[in-house]
Amino acid sequence: MSEQGKTFFLETFGCQMNVHDSEKVAGTLVAQGYVQVDDPRAADLVLYNTCSIRDKAEQKVFSRLGQYRKDLGEGKMFGVLGCVAQQEGERIFEKAPHVGLVVGSASYRRLPELLAQLEGGSRRVAGLDTDTDETFETEVTRRDNPFRAYLTIIEGCDQKCAFCVVPYTRGPERSRSSKLILEEARQLASAGYTEIQILGQIVNHYIDPDPARLTFAELLSAMAEIPGIRRVRFTTSHPRYFGPDIVDAITAHPALCNQVHLPVQSGSTRTLERMFRGYTREEYLEKIAMLRASPRGIALSTDIIVGFPGETEADFAETISLLDTVEYESIFSFKYSPRPNTPARDYAEAIADVESSRRLSLLQERQREIQTRKNRALIGSVSEVLVEGRNEKLNQWIGRTTENRVLNFTVPAAAPPRNRLGTYAWVAVTGATPNSLVGEMLPASDAEEAASLAVPIKLAWSELRVVS
Ligand code: SAH
Ligand code: F3S
Repeated sequence: MSEQGKTFFLETFGCQMNVHDSEKVAGTLVAQGYVQVDDPRAADLVLYNTCSIRDKAEQKVFSRLGQYRKDLGEGKMFGVLGCVAQQEGERIFEKAPHVGLVVGSASYRRLPELLAQLEGGSRRVAGLDTDTDETFETEVTRRDNPFRAYLTIIEGCDQKCAFCVVPYTRGPERSRSSKLILEEARQLASAGYTEIQILGQIVNHYIDPDPARLTFAELLSAMAEIPGIRRVRFTTSHPRYFGPDIVDAITAHPALCNQVHLPVQSGSTRTLERMFRGYTREEYLEKIAMLRASPRGIALSTDIIVGFPGETEADFAETISLLDTVEYESIFSFKYSPRPNTPARDYAEAIADVESSRRLSLLQERQREIQTRKNRALIGSVSEVLVEGRNEKLNQWIGRTTENRVLNFTVPAAAPPRNRLGTYAWVAVTGATPNSLVGEMLPASDAEEAASLAVPIKLAWSELRVVS
């Protein structure tokens, strides 16, 4: 590594938690005197934050590392972070000898010390402990999105669902103090963020270590009341711990977004038991009924796995019927993929890939019909969006509703031309596809009227997460 102007490049895969970890890692490195560059060729240190949730993730990491070495040549230090780092550990040094740093997410607090070892000439440095009750908190997070700030409240997961690698890669559950969380949220509001996205692998299992002992619902409410915060989202909730107090908080606080992601995984109680999910189909549907009963019209989304070992045609039919019953605004669906260390890897009755693919397409086709119908019903409604992007080619702004639905819109010719990024606008919906809406911004006077009406509308939400 060169003495002066230490530079790093950081590439991230996986969930929002990984994206946010990378923001914190970048902040930590900058505080250590490193400069972030967006071209790996210009970097002394090339870091790769990895995801291992599905699909031969390890192989992909090794082939990526090989490619880096080929493209970038000698003289650089390579580091692997995140879930594959934790899962593969020091084996990475053997399989990819050009890697000098391997750090799992439970050890990021040690990064300054590990970097110092590297700089001191150590050839191979690893941080792989998951035996910790610490969270990774830093004063120096470099947030990438100027409007929406991620904020972690709980790390790790203790649920040990039979298919899931997260408890082994992210370690045990540990919650941050509500006092520190709310302090950070207030700082974010004064820095100009209007949306906070609360993160945790099992976010609603939050247990406040502060003497205030706030429940998750109380923490949400307190955050929603911070002046300047207009939107609060949270992900991911576990159905088992989803109580009526969370729904009441959403109903009571307009700043709590009209959207809940509640992964079901399967519509069959038999499969849910074998997945160790801790609820039945009926119990899950009770939670959904509770959510649907809120006068806010909460948009619902879920995660579904098809082809779990032993899933029969009848089990799968129950998942399809669950889609029809709940009518989610959107879903994320996956073919089961065996993961290291997880109990389901040793289950008999694997489902052939071709059969899992068939089930996945059937499921997605059914959901597409539901979304097409639901989205078309929104034509003619109005909705407030946070403007997050611009599509020059289509002359459209890209907005997002409280339901997390993407609503692309044009601005009437009479409206003053200006940069609308980060602002809020009221938009009339004029068209719909299964995954997004299009519309036209209301003129200012209409917008005021619409704001005072607070029109109750149901919109779906799509792509929240960066899915690996
Ligand atoms: N609580 C976590 C769940 C992480 S994984 C969160 O924050 O979202 C996200 C989704 O990936 C899970 O809900 C599940 O549907 C899917 N998934 C996890 N492990 C999987 C596996 N082995 N095969 C296929 N899908 C999986
Ligand atoms: Fe994974 Fe289940 Fe936790 S899906 S993240 S073990 S709640």
